[in-house]
Amino acid sequence: MDAFIIEGGHPLRGTVEVRGAKNAALPMMAAALLLDEGKLVLRRVPNLADIKSMANVLQELGVRIDRRGDEMTLQVVSDKNCRASYELVSKMRASVCVLGPLVGKRRRAEVSMPGGCSIGDRPIDLHLKGLAALGASVAVERGYVIASARRLAGGTMYLGGPMGSTVTGTENVMMAAVLAPGTTIIECAACEPEVQEVAKLLVKMGALIDGIGSPRLTITGVKKLHGCTFDIIPDRIEAGTFMAAAAMTGGDVSIEKCNPDHLMCVTECMRQAGAIIETGPDWIRVRGNGMFHPVNVATLPYPGFPTDMQAQFMALMTRGEAISIVTERIYPERFHHVREFGRMGANIVREGPSAIVIGVKELSGAPVMASDLRAAAGLLVAALAARGETVLQRIYHLDRGYDQIEKRLESLGARIRRSDLKPEAAPLREAV
Ligand code: EPU
Repeated sequence: MDAFIIEGGHPLRGTVEVRGAKNAALPMMAAALLLDEGKLVLRRVPNLADIKSMANVLQELGVRIDRRGDEMTLQVVSDKNCRASYELVSKMRASVCVLGPLVGKRRRAEVSMPGGCSIGDRPIDLHLKGLAALGASVAVERGYVIASARRLAGGTMYLGGPMGSTVTGTENVMMAAVLAPGTTIIECAACEPEVQEVAKLLVKMGALIDGIGSPRLTITGVKKLHGCTFDIIPDRIEAGTFMAAAAMTGGDVSIEKCNPDHLMCVTECMRQAGAIIETGPDWIRVRGNGMFHPVNVATLPYPGFPTDMQAQFMALMTRGEAISIVTERIYPERFHHVREFGRMGANIVREGPSAIVIGVKELSGAPVMASDLRAAAGLLVAALAARGETVLQRIYHLDRGYDQIEKRLESLGARIRRSDLKPEAAPLREAV
């Protein structure tokens, strides 16, 4: 199993380009199931393990996929199969995004329940509630969600749960509603840029959606959708991870082909922490000195601080002059990285959904293990600045969400290499 060997302490300098957003690309690929005719061409599709997993799920559902560079063409060649199997869905949670389009277009879906995962309990009750509000009958049988409807009809629903809105839940229900006759109102819709982009894609395919970007979406059902070409937005979490790496190593990095508007909260928090950040229309320059002022952050739905940046920001807070509090309001258990940061000399105490981070002067390299994609990103950021060598294991998590991260970090001056370590214990359940 591959690991990264990282020799820390080398400031990152230079320029790096951001790839397309994984969490926009995945539901957009699923939207191909809604096609009546034509092809869906997605541009700037990142080259990631998760994208391959979604392609496998869609191929099983009769979608032909051709990929040339970062352009992907999807076309429905058979609509017979409505079942997304456990073997494929268990590889990646986001494959639950086929549920809405299958119900919307084929009027039947059998999708394996994604189950728990390493970042905590992740129910899909709101996805099911939304589909039921459109007239689908929904049941869970032998580990599969079985949803079917002779006909769907627009409905009004409140799609918020104890933690607020749901990203893939909103996408799923929206994708089912675009073909449901009548008007659908989704109240407490997620406003994340990825959700907005899925809505824009659907509109380009012929759907009628009002209120994009607001918590109230109004969808008027149409008879059919057609193909189109669509550019995927830059990955804000990838950009944020490079920002954290630049600041943590005391470097000077320009992050290009990104959208600074999507990172306002992260930028604000990093500035408060002491990083010098300039932004342009599609670039962000980050300079830091590797030591930080304490900043209390709480993860929240967009435009609040993203949970997917929590571990990377916590890495920054480990090196500083005082105490900061990092609170998880989306996934209260998403703290597996805390123990691993401790192995690197960080001083962090867990207290319910918060981590109290007592800044230290420096971190030291250590063998550490990633438990999920963003925990891995946080450990990577810490390792780049730690004294000595870190062996970061289970980096297949990073390959799920970051394209050739080691090559891009190397081009910025990091000392990092991939190495094949001997097999270890079975992996934790997958996140994303
Ligand atoms: N929730 C419910 N019921 C539901 C759905 C969600 O109670 O039916 C709760 C969740 O347990 C959580 C909160 O609502 O507490 C938000 O979950 P959400 O549904 O928004 O998460 P998701 O759609 O499963 C997406 C991203 C995650 C990201 C979260 C939060 C994709 C493919 N995944 O997951 O990305 O952390 O939104 O922003 O879009 C990652 O990229 O590393 C990743 C995990």
